[in-house]
Amino acid sequence: MRDTNRPIAMLTAYDYPTGRACDLHGIDITLVGDSLAQVCLGYDSTTRLTLDEMIHHCQAVARGSKNPFLVADMPYGTYHTGVDDAVRNAIRMVREGGVEAVKMEGGLELVEIVKKLTTFGIPVMGHVGLLPQRHTSLSGYRVQGKDAKRAVELVKSAVELEMAGAFSIVLEAIPHRLGELITRRLSVPTIGIGAGPFTSGQVLVWDDVMGTWSGHKAKFVRRFAGVQSEAKRGVTEYAAAVRERTFPDIEAESYPMEDMEWQQVV
Ligand code: KIV
Ligand code: NA
Repeated sequence: MRDTNRPIAMLTAYDYPTGRACDLHGIDITLVGDSLAQVCLGYDSTTRLTLDEMIHHCQAVARGSKNPFLVADMPYGTYHTGVDDAVRNAIRMVREGGVEAVKMEGGLELVEIVKKLTTFGIPVMGHVGLLPQRHTSLSGYRVQGKDAKRAVELVKSAVELEMAGAFSIVLEAIPHRLGELITRRLSVPTIGIGAGPFTSGQVLVWDDVMGTWSGHKAKFVRRFAGVQSEAKRGVTEYAAAVRERTFPDIEAESYPMEDMEWQQVV
């Protein structure tokens, strides 16, 4: 797709129905992002997510998302303690979780891991720029690479990851010029989130696209649907109908019983 200049549409999914929707409605890459921690499990950071929790959700997404390429985040701490641990955990993601590729956040420090996984035939997607798993040392969730020194570092990271074998790289929260430059420098596709319109593709978090919550909205988010207001309408109207006893309707939504049978019961 990159070579023929067709933009790649990637979207996160966290369970069977969201995976199914990605499959049915033309998504190219389904990502079981570790944003799962916040948007589905209510943790305050992706660093809370365990490998077992991630695998549990990958299994559900994999049952629903067959056609798109299926990628999942390696959770925090599952690839930091050495190449052997990273390999063992990535194999679990593939064998138990049913994903086709793994994504990991970082730069040069990941080169050995990426090399090893790709030699074993596990495709790796890189992720540079804003790294949510390192939000503490990055002093929060902020745009990366606005200064020349950091920008050069990010270009170098992306190039090294490609050389190590990464099949694609996510660029998160960087200036659009930098997103464009990195995309030109690489021969593998870049997938942007807050990296401007010149990357090979885009990715967004399901809940941001759907508008399922009304919390903080990053500059790079566009809400394409208004699920929260629909959910509010559904829940409040349902609860009101129960309280008013207008639900269920005795004819349309209840089961009848023959009079003759009923006589024998009473
Ligand atoms: O966890 C996630 O959802 C992600 C994407 C937004 C890139 O890493
Ligand atoms: Na992530």
